[in-house]
Amino acid sequence: MSLQDREIVLGVTGGIAAYKAVEVLRRLVQQGANVHVVMTRSAQEFVGPLTFQTLARNPVITEMFALTQETDIQHISLARRADLVLIAPATANVIGKFAHGIADDFLTTLLLATRAPILMAPAMNPEMYANGIVQDNIASLRARQVRFIPPGAGETACNEVGVGRLAEVSAIVEAVERFFLQGRDLVGKKVLVTAGPTEEPLDPVRFLSNPSSGKMGYALAEASQNRGAQVVLVSGPTLLAPPPNVDFYPIKTALEMRATVMRELESSDVVIKAAAVADYRPKTMFTSKIKKREGELVVQLERNPDILAEIGSQKRHQVLVGFAAETDDLLANARAKVLQKNLDMIVANNVRSTEIGFRSNENKVLLIYPDGSIEDLPKMSKREVADAILDRVVELVRRRAGADGTRP
Ligand code: PMT
Repeated sequence: MSLQDREIVLGVTGGIAAYKAVEVLRRLVQQGANVHVVMTRSAQEFVGPLTFQTLARNPVITEMFALTQETDIQHISLARRADLVLIAPATANVIGKFAHGIADDFLTTLLLATRAPILMAPAMNPEMYANGIVQDNIASLRARQVRFIPPGAGETACNEVGVGRLAEVSAIVEAVERFFLQGRDLVGKKVLVTAGPTEEPLDPVRFLSNPSSGKMGYALAEASQNRGAQVVLVSGPTLLAPPPNVDFYPIKTALEMRATVMRELESSDVVIKAAAVADYRPKTMFTSKIKKREGELVVQLERNPDILAEIGSQKRHQVLVGFAAETDDLLANARAKVLQKNLDMIVANNVRSTEIGFRSNENKVLLIYPDGSIEDLPKMSKREVADAILDRVVELVRRRAGADGTRP
């Protein structure tokens, strides 16, 4: 009964795969979930509400303005009550409406009103799924933390072969179970995350920095917190609001970051260094604005401490994850760093591309371990990358406790 007492809204939209949602419902209920089914009008063309109602043992919601026994506003109360909203199957239509903020029936209204996490399992004709408009809508929802269970490949009901058919029922139910498990796997652990750029002052109005937006590090902080960790976020200047309930330490320079990180290190179980730390700082900080004059201005730079390497040389019980931001020889450079800095894992990203790495909402990373093994992850939202990293971190923590030191 892995889903005992979980409140799940199952949204069923109008595609031939709607019949598979019946089996999804049956399996969720079997695992102990309390499931509230919401059907769009076109979903009811494929399967009758009574089938869902019988299995869910809850009334099925089909109309926005149906008279109910309840006195509250139903889409709001359900939106608040849900631990998870699962849309299976999710048509191109519902994905498109949600991506554009359209709320013209019960389900799309609930989607906009809920603060619960949302999982979508798309199902449609392969040409539709490959359409750039659908892919843009998916990317835009991913950037807003909506999670997707990718469709499978094979022959679809319209006799076309390609990617678009609803994921297997077992994959959907596992994704739901994994979601709830994730909520708990870092309880009792302290995770220290660094994020954003550092600013190294040259004079009162100028500094050396880099384009880090903090998105990757903040996604890690938020994901760690959602999984139950006590989170310390040490961040350079960004435009982002820190996730609620994290211990937030804003810093500007690498030296300030180092001081805060070293203070928090001993009590941390996991350290993840996503910050883009300046390797050099101006040797002299001018106390007044430098005035322009004829000829060149030569600025001398001196090395900043390598905070990650320092932690690597001192760490005892901590699981240590570094990042490698490279423009060339990504794999070779990252492999060297994982060993030189005594890391448990390094997350390597190519920062030459504008679609991933700095500032983007998505990232594509390699996970590299000290034994030389590599995992090549697909391009995903930074939040999804964060959860993928934490899945491995949880395993590393578990193995550290068992002290067998092997990679996940
Ligand atoms: O913030 P975003 O816009 O979302 O962009 C995300 C990101 C590209 C900044 C992120 O994914 C990333 O790659 N962060 C690491 C950037 C970096 O400084 O990489 P590096 O290869 O120069 O450094 C290697 C590691 O050493 C990093 O973990 C870094 O935090 C750490 N380091 C570097 C220098 C230094 N003096 N001290 C350090 O601790």
